[in-house]
Amino acid sequence: MKITSSLITPSKSKSDALFVGFFSDTKLNTIATEADNLTNKQISARIKAKDFSGKTGEALTLFSNSGQRIVLVGLGNKDKCNLGTIQSATTSAVKAVIKTPVKTVSNYISSLTYANLDPATVAKISAIAASHAAYRYEVTKNFKKDDKHSLTSMAMYADKKAASTIKQAAAIATGVETTRSLGNLPPNICNPSYLASHAKDIAKKYDNCSLTILDEKKMQKLKMGALLAVARGSRNSPKMIVLKYTGTKKLQKPHVIVGKGITFDTGGISLKPGANMDEMKYDMCGAATVFGTFVAVAEMQLPINLVMIVPAVENMPDGDAYRPGDVVTSYSGKTIEVLNTDAEGRMILCDALTYAQEYKPQVLIDLATLTGACVVALGHVASAVMSKQEQLPQDILKAGIEINDKAWQLPLWDEYQKQIDTTFADMQNVGGFAGGSITAGCFLSRFCEDVNWAHIDIAGTAWNNKKEGATGRPVAMMVQYLINESAK
Ligand code: BES
Ligand code: MN
Ligand code: ZN
Repeated sequence: MKITSSLITPSKSKSDALFVGFFSDTKLNTIATEADNLTNKQISARIKAKDFSGKTGEALTLFSNSGQRIVLVGLGNKDKCNLGTIQSATTSAVKAVIKTPVKTVSNYISSLTYANLDPATVAKISAIAASHAAYRYEVTKNFKKDDKHSLTSMAMYADKKAASTIKQAAAIATGVETTRSLGNLPPNICNPSYLASHAKDIAKKYDNCSLTILDEKKMQKLKMGALLAVARGSRNSPKMIVLKYTGTKKLQKPHVIVGKGITFDTGGISLKPGANMDEMKYDMCGAATVFGTFVAVAEMQLPINLVMIVPAVENMPDGDAYRPGDVVTSYSGKTIEVLNTDAEGRMILCDALTYAQEYKPQVLIDLATLTGACVVALGHVASAVMSKQEQLPQDILKAGIEINDKAWQLPLWDEYQKQIDTTFADMQNVGGFAGGSITAGCFLSRFCEDVNWAHIDIAGTAWNNKKEGATGRPVAMMVQYLINESAK
């Protein structure tokens, strides 16, 4: 969906549909009054008749004299309205038109005066939410001709000052869509080679991007023993994908983001139970998130240097698969005793994180659907941030609040480290039941000792259920973080 900004009011709008916001406890604003006049006062009549009360997410479609759809949408009490309200209201409005022939929308939700929110932020959140609600997975499904999904563009009501924020929103929406599309692809299509070719397309599309791909041979040469151990069980050979974006000429150290790209996680020889194993196609959502973040940054040409690294591997059981009990030597030289082949994410990430440090990052962040324990701890609401630094996790959390894509911090205190000590190697790859997300973070921390690093576990946030699929989280948080960094 194309997102633009405009100050055209309802009487001049040529859009197929207009979204008009309404607080349950205030009067129609100027924009809504103008829309009311276009509908022979149907808006005020329906409100007066209590057909519409303005509860959050309530939507009522009316027709203007010229046949436009006017979607009246509730935002609840003015004082209680927050970013989540904007998101639900926008989602309802989009749902009200998405199965109709409506192609173009003028969105006036941002024309209201909010108690605690500035108009640019409202427009940004609403634009991203609209794009999210209009998304539909189409790659491997046949749709009937009358199953329309026509919405192609949305003009946000926003002044010149907000126009640059709308551009950011459009870029974020594109990034989120990239992430969802990759995440939702089936694992027989989206394998390591597919991710590599997708990176090639991105590098071709943007001038200031360059691509490096390490194949299995190259990684053997470099002795990336932990990643290669996981890869051994699969016929699909692994790739290390590196996309570089140069957004500032200054010799500025890059921000480096690393995403777990397990394109399917069977658990390996420590085989997962059969029920819901299909969901492990989402085990590349860390990779999908860094792809989406990268695309958003390139779209908005953010003045920052960014490197995206994706270790792409499939975790399968096989005659040549790595086993519980194996001791492997990672790229860093540290040895790892494999106690569970299903703790494969940290095995590929540790080599990717070691490699990432060759880019001399000012900030290094990895994103991964790393532990089921993370879903237990934080549910599907917050991503988990772990770091040994003071400032970095705070900056990430702040960005999440700003764009309503939230995260929460878990500690990486030294007391947890002993859970991954072992007699037979420098560390073991599992830390037991207690604090499973934290001990996974501790494992990674042993490869990031002298760098400004944070780990984000997105096991609970990257996808929802089978129907909704990949959520595109936390692309918005990551991009907002990088926007904030670029303004430093
Ligand atoms: N990809 C999974 C983590 C996961 C599980 C994410 C369920 C979302 C939902 C990861 O590779 C894994 O299997 N982790 C194990 C670690 C354990 C063996 C220490 C887990 O969480 O059970
Ligand atoms: Mn696993
Ligand atoms: Zn996994």
